[in-house]
Amino acid sequence: MVGLKIKNLSKTLLGMEIIRKVTATFLPGRITALVGPNGAGKTTIFNLICGYLTPDNGAVFYDDEDITGLQPYQVARKGIGRLFQDVRIFEGMTVLENVVTACMPYASESPLFPFMRPLRLSRLYKHARERSCYWLEFVGLYAKKDYPASELSFGQQKLLAIARLLSKGFRVMLLDEPASGLSPIATKKVMATLERIVSEDRDKTIVVVEHNMKVVTEMADWVYFMNEGQVAFFGRTDHVLGAREVREMYLGF
Ligand SMILES: Nc1ncnc2c1ncn2[C@@H]1O[C@H](COP(=O)(O)OP(=O)(O)O)[C@@H](O)[C@H]1O
Ligand SMILES: [Mg+2]
Repeated sequence: MVGLKIKNLSKTLLGMEIIRKVTATFLPGRITALVGPNGAGKTTIFNLICGYLTPDNGAVFYDDEDITGLQPYQVARKGIGRLFQDVRIFEGMTVLENVVTACMPYASESPLFPFMRPLRLSRLYKHARERSCYWLEFVGLYAKKDYPASELSFGQQKLLAIARLLSKGFRVMLLDEPASGLSPIATKKVMATLERIVSEDRDKTIVVVEHNMKVVTEMADWVYFMNEGQVAFFGRTDHVLGAREVREMYLGF
């Protein structure tokens, strides 16, 4: 099966069963939301997928390949990228440099590389620069490309972090609360960008952890509602968020 799948994942930390037999499928061309109260285990699911934590039981599959227990850098090389809740950008670099450093190939990270293959390096750099400009344009930050990244608003920093993920060519993007701390206008921009990613490239899989139910309703195709480490409900967004039990138990309306 194409896409990302987690099967019967379980994890105990400090004697607490934090994740209990969670099974979920994240399909390409779709935005899937992971929702639920604080402490439900949403971020832990991302940590288990990305290799920051190893599950006690269960497995993670990507395009049918078992990727359980791989190191974070190996998971990234499979094409699975992550946006952290506290955006991680280099404030001392320009906006463009932030994206270029993200998408330069791994081989160029060797300190000897520039001495060994200077011509190849300059070609790689040119290519990375073109690619970076394309993605900055895509997220609407091209006009700011030469600004220090520290001068961007928080919403623009999130968009920059998304441009970094796109420039790396990740096929799966896991985003932990991409709208948290953003103004309604910035939230709309981030949402529109995510929607455009999956509508223009049906091969991309987006998974978002999101608290704002309005954002989830407008953006997500499919929802997993987690509570106390388990999937309590899942299905099409309108079905799950429209269900009386979900509204009464968790949303309070
Ligand atoms: N490294 C850890 N060690 C111990 N407990 C943890 C660790 N990480 C998370 N937890 C606990 O696991 C539960 C789920 O956390 P988390 O996945 O961050 O929830 P969510 O993202 O849904 O708010 C919480 O009770 C949290 O305190
Ligand atoms: Mg969290």
